[in-house]
Amino acid sequence: MIPDFGAYQNEIYLGGLSGRLPSFPTRFDALEAKAHAALPASLVSYVAGGCGDERTQEANVEAFDKWGLWPRMFVGAKQRDMSIELFGMRLPSPLFMSPIGVIGLCAQDGHGDLATARAAALTNVPMVASTLSVDPLEAVAAEFKTTPGFFQLYTPTDRELAANLVGRAERAGFKAIVMTLDTWVTGWRPRDLAAANFPQLRGHCLANYFSDPRFATLMGGAPEKDLRAAVATWAAIFGNPLTWDDLPWLRSLTKLPLIIKGICHPDDARRAVDGGVDGIYCSNHGGRQANGGIPALDMLAAVVKAAGSVPVMFDSGIRSGTHVIKALAMGAAAVGVGRPYAYGLALGGTEGIVHVLRSLLAEADLLMAVNGYPTRADLKPEALQRVER
Ligand SMILES: Cc1cc2nc3c(=O)[nH]c(=O)nc-3n(C[C@H](O)[C@H](O)[C@H](O)COP(=O)(O)O)c2cc1C
Repeated sequence: MIPDFGAYQNEIYLGGLSGRLPSFPTRFDALEAKAHAALPASLVSYVAGGCGDERTQEANVEAFDKWGLWPRMFVGAKQRDMSIELFGMRLPSPLFMSPIGVIGLCAQDGHGDLATARAAALTNVPMVASTLSVDPLEAVAAEFKTTPGFFQLYTPTDRELAANLVGRAERAGFKAIVMTLDTWVTGWRPRDLAAANFPQLRGHCLANYFSDPRFATLMGGAPEKDLRAAVATWAAIFGNPLTWDDLPWLRSLTKLPLIIKGICHPDDARRAVDGGVDGIYCSNHGGRQANGGIPALDMLAAVVKAAGSVPVMFDSGIRSGTHVIKALAMGAAAVGVGRPYAYGLALGGTEGIVHVLRSLLAEADLLMAVNGYPTRADLKPEALQRVER
């Protein structure tokens, strides 16, 4: 059965007949403002902040306004089918949750990774679980039910530990491995620097390392017995400045679909495809890693073209269902939401995330209905028109 994502608006309007207003904002700016008021200042700076003067992260969002969608009439798009095929899996929508390293801390009970996995189970929107989590990857995967989950690897310098993390993700039932390439060193983030705050260096979100026997060997003891030494060991092995020569080794780590995150240049996309990856993930990390960049959306079409038949996942700047549709028309195979679901979590745990995801999907679905694009396949680059703002 094709899900009726747009029906979420009927639920909200019907609630209004009994005096019920939505529990969470339906606009991103209101959601963001409320979440910022609810979160501790150190988390607001970590989640909302980006690199330099944060121009790249703003431009990521603004880039969507430079495109409009042509309305088509007499299409009778009574039912919309947003489903996609990705790495042999049939998914009801193209939406997924991007990996967010401190998501664990954004929940009021401090277990946001689990709350996010539960939201994935309730919505069929896959979670890409970060290496940096409060709860170990096995506990996160146990919450997915029938929704597929992806594991995002920050490749440590120790190859045995890297292989362990991938092996654990495979055994836990993750369906794909996402390797992030743009974060072997942290970009210059003035907001976090002003507060001298970096959560991992305070021992947060390191459960996947601390639960791994290889990590205990590397530090020469049990992490829970000496947090300072554990954090020092983590800091020493976290960032691996990978080169193309490492790709065959990374590829050899898993038989699961391998996706590499942070690819934004068509030449890199071509080289990655030649190296045997199953998916490209076009993202500039939401402007958190480098400033002075190009909006992620503006790089997508060239990456899609270069990737050929290899699917391109996309994120950076998605704030609405309209943005999801524009990224699809630009060629994304699947579209990732980042900061908005962290804010949903901060406000209402699993329920807050479910609201954010359902709102994105409802808006996307209703846009397809009104503008006459009944299926994902109808959303082609020709559906878009450059507009002046
Ligand atoms: C607080 C925060 C933590 C993040 N942690 C990770 C991470 O652990 N791994 C990763 O690959 N990307 C991480 N990202 C980047 C996201 O996966 C995604 O690329 C980014 O959020 C997209 O930008 P947007 O949220 O502005 O749309 C993080 C992003 C945020 C906001």
